[in-house]
Amino acid sequence: MSEVVTYELRDGVGVITVNYPPVNALGKDVREGLKAAVEQGAADDGAQALVVMGGGRTFPAGADIREFGKPPQPPALTEVIDAYEHADKLIVAAIHGTALGGGLEVALGCDYRVAVSSARVGLPEVNLGILPGAGGTQRLPRLIGADKALPMIVEGNHVPAAKAQSLGIIDEVVEGDLAEQAIAYARKLVGDGAPRRPVSEMEVKLEDPKVFENYEKSIARKKRGFLAPFRCIEAVKAAAELPFAEGMKRERELFTELVSSPQSKAQRHAFFAEREVGKVPGVSKDTPRREIGKVGIIGAGTMGGGIAMNFANVGIPVILKEVKQEALDNGIKIIRRNYENTAKKGRISQDDVEKRMSLISGTLEYDELSDVNLVIEAVFESMDIKKEVFGELDRVCKSGAILATNTSTLDVNEIADSTSRPEDVMGMHFFSPANVMKLLENVRGEKTSDEVVATVMDLSKKIGKVGVCVGVCDGFVGNRMLHKRQAEAVSLVAAGASPEQVDKVLFDFGFPMGPFAMSDLAGIDVGYRIRQERRKAGDPEAQKPSWLDKLAEQGRYGQKTGAGVFKYEEGDRTPKPDPEVAKLIEDFRKENGIEPREVTDQEILERCMYVMVNEGAKILEEGIASRALDIDIVWIYGYGFPVYRGGTMFWADQVGLKEIHDRVKTFHEQLGGKQWEPSPLLERLAKEGKGFHDL
Ligand code: CAA
Repeated sequence: MSEVVTYELRDGVGVITVNYPPVNALGKDVREGLKAAVEQGAADDGAQALVVMGGGRTFPAGADIREFGKPPQPPALTEVIDAYEHADKLIVAAIHGTALGGGLEVALGCDYRVAVSSARVGLPEVNLGILPGAGGTQRLPRLIGADKALPMIVEGNHVPAAKAQSLGIIDEVVEGDLAEQAIAYARKLVGDGAPRRPVSEMEVKLEDPKVFENYEKSIARKKRGFLAPFRCIEAVKAAAELPFAEGMKRERELFTELVSSPQSKAQRHAFFAEREVGKVPGVSKDTPRREIGKVGIIGAGTMGGGIAMNFANVGIPVILKEVKQEALDNGIKIIRRNYENTAKKGRISQDDVEKRMSLISGTLEYDELSDVNLVIEAVFESMDIKKEVFGELDRVCKSGAILATNTSTLDVNEIADSTSRPEDVMGMHFFSPANVMKLLENVRGEKTSDEVVATVMDLSKKIGKVGVCVGVCDGFVGNRMLHKRQAEAVSLVAAGASPEQVDKVLFDFGFPMGPFAMSDLAGIDVGYRIRQERRKAGDPEAQKPSWLDKLAEQGRYGQKTGAGVFKYEEGDRTPKPDPEVAKLIEDFRKENGIEPREVTDQEILERCMYVMVNEGAKILEEGIASRALDIDIVWIYGYGFPVYRGGTMFWADQVGLKEIHDRVKTFHEQLGGKQWEPSPLLERLAKEGKGFHDL
């Protein structure tokens, strides 16, 4: 018997337990162990039935993803599941934690399933760019009907036990000791003469034969660019149309296609990268964490309010500090409205709204922040104002409190040095809308202590964010790269492209929107003001005046004024090309002696993307990001970089750094500019034939 799977006889029932922490993933040893255990159980005369369950924190949470892309090692999971389905004893799966992917597939190979109320089940393979490859697409539709199985397989969401029971996946939700309950349940089934129930022998219920076609249409836009969701639909369709064995064959073909696709490779990279970012190099995992029981927020505007909601959502009390009562009341009113809207959509209850609101209070006095463990400043982007705020915080906050700034442009070290405790100061750069966007750039200053870094990184996860630790520089990781791309997009239009052409190329690449739809959303005035400040300060890197500035000067600030680079009809956020803008661009070209030329889609893609890769390489060289995967996650969660391309730097590695370096060099020769000076790191890796992820 393998060590990772144990078998014991309890009360006349053979109990098979998987012990492979942390998540009991179904690696080779576990598969071998599971197969051996069911054979042992079947041969055990003392066992009238069998129970299979997970030890530790969970039922198996899926196949071992680390094995994908490597030569398959027997026994295959399908073979193991067959052994369960065809064993000549009744088998009950006893679920706690998460029965996901291959884990749920094992449970579907059993006759009955019980779960504790906190358990969740699901087939999340689609999130890894694959589909359930051990019978999930064939058995789940047989158990609960194709119409209901479809969203579970295509969306990959986790389903709580109660819902799983109502769907017919779980037979009983049990309380108390799971093993005891499952044994009792198995004994009762045997006592009652309950039949064996091989799912593979069930008929697929199909309420609406057009469900597949309709479902495909319904996800066409949301899943644009992804392969796996569409293959999942095909697989479920096969379940409805083919006998089980043939359906299994079809599932295998589709699985094999997906698992070796670049998309799945990218999505698996993203899965592990998301977990890796939490481990900051140089910060030991044993670093003590500070307790965060109460949070203060300076500024109750859109940003401050959004930030506050994150904490109230997880039960942490928040106090908002404003200068004027009216602004404070307004900020709190908007938070309530946001919660009420979420409740209207049925995502939270009215009770939740009240509970969360009761955790949010307001004040006009700094002194009321004396008991908070963390304070996040979200006021106007001015160094003088920030220093004033931090002076007050330094005065009132208790020793050990973490003082954070939400600045997106200012020097965190300078802010830290204006206090008497720079080791407690850190940047927490939320992305707008702060209650929605998952990225949190946690900016470590030169003097920030490990304890503060570790606490803020843990806290990010607690409030449902993906925290990435970055260093201090202008724009940090995300905006620094974004600004380079934006400048390139503007210059491509000056050269002859249209804004809609540029946007389409990046939209088709997989971004949720193009650079100009994005600047219209963020507000053209924001970038304009920053550029003007820089020009005034004589910054040699400040961009030359552009046609985009002219739009700002005309009050075309973007969506909020109904017109920016594109125009917007009342109540409609769809960007529409505007002849007035085309004329303005044409005039700009004339004034600047630019003869417009045809710009190819290829040039747009290369210039917009390679300029970011080159900047990303510089960010790595400077240690602003510690690893390429940190940059990938910033782009996936902060800017909607298509996850099926794995993030900016992962994508670059797939293109090949030699190719990118050659083009960067050529653009440098043709266009000049610091942004095109090839990064020495890019040059070195290109020469060595390596990628950023080989570092
Ligand atoms: N394979 C290998 N490693 C896995 C894993 C898996 N299926 N699931 C989790 N891990 C690892 C994580 O990488 C992490 O490792 P480190 O501690 O070294 O970083 C560790 O287990 C803990 O994971 P989390 O930090 O994610 O823990 P959590 O408690 O926040 O979440 C979870 C637990 C919900 C199970 C989450 O890990 C998860 O969603 N896992 C993936 C589930 C999944 O996609 N299953 C389907 C796999 S594919 C499949 O099964 C194909 C098939 O049809 C046969």
